[in-house]
Amino acid sequence: MRNIVILTGAGISAESGLQTFRAADGLWEGHRVEDVATPEAFARDPELVHDFYDARRARLGEVMPNAAHVALARLDAEWAGQLLIVTQNVDDLHERAGAKRLLHMHGELLRGWCVACDARFGWAGAMGEGATCLHCHSPGKVRPDIVWFGEMPYEMDRIDAALMNADLFVSIGTSGAVYPAAGFVQTATYRGARTLEINLEPSQGSIFFDERRYGPASEEVPKWVEEVLVAKEPLKPPPI
Ligand code: APR
Repeated sequence: MRNIVILTGAGISAESGLQTFRAADGLWEGHRVEDVATPEAFARDPELVHDFYDARRARLGEVMPNAAHVALARLDAEWAGQLLIVTQNVDDLHERAGAKRLLHMHGELLRGWCVACDARFGWAGAMGEGATCLHCHSPGKVRPDIVWFGEMPYEMDRIDAALMNADLFVSIGTSGAVYPAAGFVQTATYRGARTLEINLEPSQGSIFFDERRYGPASEEVPKWVEEVLVAKEPLKPPPI
């Protein structure tokens, strides 16, 4: 059996109704990314940043996984080889679709992080500036457990290990604009994996992929998953 690593980005959740980051207007839900998704922004204006993430967290209750999330969960359940879904997304749509072998490299909206005692814990409702840590009970020290620009993504050791072993790397719905995720295709290539991009349009790193499929994730991902499960091979062999 073969080993598959899948990277997902905001594009996989777009058809569920969640806005991607790099929309045509360059804003994320009306904000500049620097104003809401950096540690400096949080230090400067914690109320604005909390309001922003409280709204994103509340929005999760209004959206559902789409056919792309469902197809990846099916692949996870049925693929007997190693498989890891690495998502850059902070939504919970992969897990709600049933994916188990999943890792959130940019954190999760539904988790809080206490900067006083370093505990991380599930968080469902609004957080706001006055949130109290569930462990040390300090008030005002809980922030969204989200990896902001300038912070280190989570679980890089596990991701690197999976990429080292991968036979196939698939990138879905990501613009390839943000490292280190944007560099996974090259790491996988150096280790001898085949690589596939599924996106609405060519990403910034599209030239690095062996195979490219362009279209809505809700159509392209189920099609690809079906092919893989029928063929029991993650990718067709390279042309001779
Ligand atoms: N199907 C497939 N791809 C789509 C769809 C769709 N229905 N809709 C949009 N896309 C593609 C876009 O063409 C774009 O290339 O998804 C990509 C989304 O790119 P970004 O908005 O840049 O999102 P992402 O790549 O996930 O961003 C990476 O940047 O802001 C940070 O930490 C944040 O995790 C995020 C990271």
